[in-house]
Amino acid sequence: MDRPHVLVIPYPAQGHVKPLMELSHRLVEYGFKVTFLNTEFNHKRVMAAMSSRGDDKGGKICMAAIPDGFGLEEDRNQHGKLIESMWNNMPGYLEEFIGKMMSDSNESKIKCVITDWTMAWALKVAAKMGIPRAAFWSSSAAILASVLHLPKLIEDKIVNDNGVPYINNQMIKLSPSMPSMSTNQLVWMCMGKTNMQQEVFDLFIRINGTVELIDYFICNSFYELEPSVFELFPNVQPIGPLLASSPGNFWKEDSTCLSWLDQQTSRSVIYVAFGSFTIFNKQQFEELALGLELSGQPFLWVVRPDLTSGEAAVYPEGFIERVASRGRMVSWAPQKNVLAHPSIACFLSHCGWNSTTEGLSVGVPFLCWPYFADQFLNESYICDVWKVGLKLVSDENGVISRDEIKTKVDMLLGDNEIKTNTLKMKEQTMRSVSDDGTSTKNLEEFIQKIKS
Ligand code: UDX
Repeated sequence: MDRPHVLVIPYPAQGHVKPLMELSHRLVEYGFKVTFLNTEFNHKRVMAAMSSRGDDKGGKICMAAIPDGFGLEEDRNQHGKLIESMWNNMPGYLEEFIGKMMSDSNESKIKCVITDWTMAWALKVAAKMGIPRAAFWSSSAAILASVLHLPKLIEDKIVNDNGVPYINNQMIKLSPSMPSMSTNQLVWMCMGKTNMQQEVFDLFIRINGTVELIDYFICNSFYELEPSVFELFPNVQPIGPLLASSPGNFWKEDSTCLSWLDQQTSRSVIYVAFGSFTIFNKQQFEELALGLELSGQPFLWVVRPDLTSGEAAVYPEGFIERVASRGRMVSWAPQKNVLAHPSIACFLSHCGWNSTTEGLSVGVPFLCWPYFADQFLNESYICDVWKVGLKLVSDENGVISRDEIKTKVDMLLGDNEIKTNTLKMKEQTMRSVSDDGTSTKNLEEFIQKIKS
């Protein structure tokens, strides 16, 4: 008998592709055939990184691609323009892609299109073609709640029609049972140096208009982590965290850092990684390097090829020689395995949602250095709600100084309360994805529904 076939469509960013790849692998384990549809640009990157691991087929997943409407050489960091191009061009390409599949007698019928909700144009295409639809939310449910509540935030005059709060830093509650959040933490207000506030707000207004098209709504969080949000939106099913170790990387992994970690003392290494978007200026990059040196601890630092704006990373003079015996820099790490390594003492992180849940799942304490979007709210969760980390605070010039880094590393490593909390969170996180955990049950229920 034909395996049930699903088509999975991620938003073209690393933090969105990886969890959906992980979900796709799970679906394959549950007997599905999965076609994973990247943009052509990312498809090339993912396939290149996979073949460097000796896996050029995406495991049992069918890897496919359609254009995003941009030329291959065009700068995809112009996110607003890219979003516009995707919404204008990709529906046509998707319809053609599905049409070809449907007319191929060797291809099984698509049971469901599972799309990242930020690519909600795909819901419209699937609806037009009579295919059931699931929306996937890759970040926290709290952020999802703020997007679902957008019309109400405008109606209640919390934000204006452009999403700008009437009162700066006003504390609001989306429901009586939810923790308060500041209007400054609304995700579109946290776009920092990316200048994307309006584009992101407009995107959320757009996707908000597609709620009616969603048959199943799934979210990369778990019930016990954000119970009040899931109580408020019972139709949203938490199936996470989808802890991604499977392929889907945009950069080639440097696994040699794992044997380097083997040689380090237990619970001694600071793991430093800022996900896929964060950009540092020269001064801040230098200060971070000197802070790691000053800490006196061994460290493993992910320095992506594009971590520093417009130029190759320049380390402070003599830095590489001085830290040679205890510092390791790599361009991309096997993060899930790194975090689980017994040598890791703490995680200096930008607080991307995947990094946050990956850290929770292994019980490492965090030093938080958010950059944009949901990362500020994730930082509040980490430091103020779950109490498993400390915030790095910038000085009057907006720089996080080397002394601040050293002080907070010392404080974090000596904090027993945080240590206890990380163990509690680890247990809770892993319980949710255990055989009879809440997320596993929700995933199985979702699977039964799409199979039938
Ligand atoms: C972005 C946003 O920042 C994030 O807040 C949002 O929720 C999703 O999109 P990103 O900045 O890339 O994602 O961060 P994160 O969500 O942490 O995802 C990064 C992924 O890359 C993680 O799964 C992490 O394990 C992986 N990674 C990172 C590696 O595999 N190796 C590395 O060296 C660094």
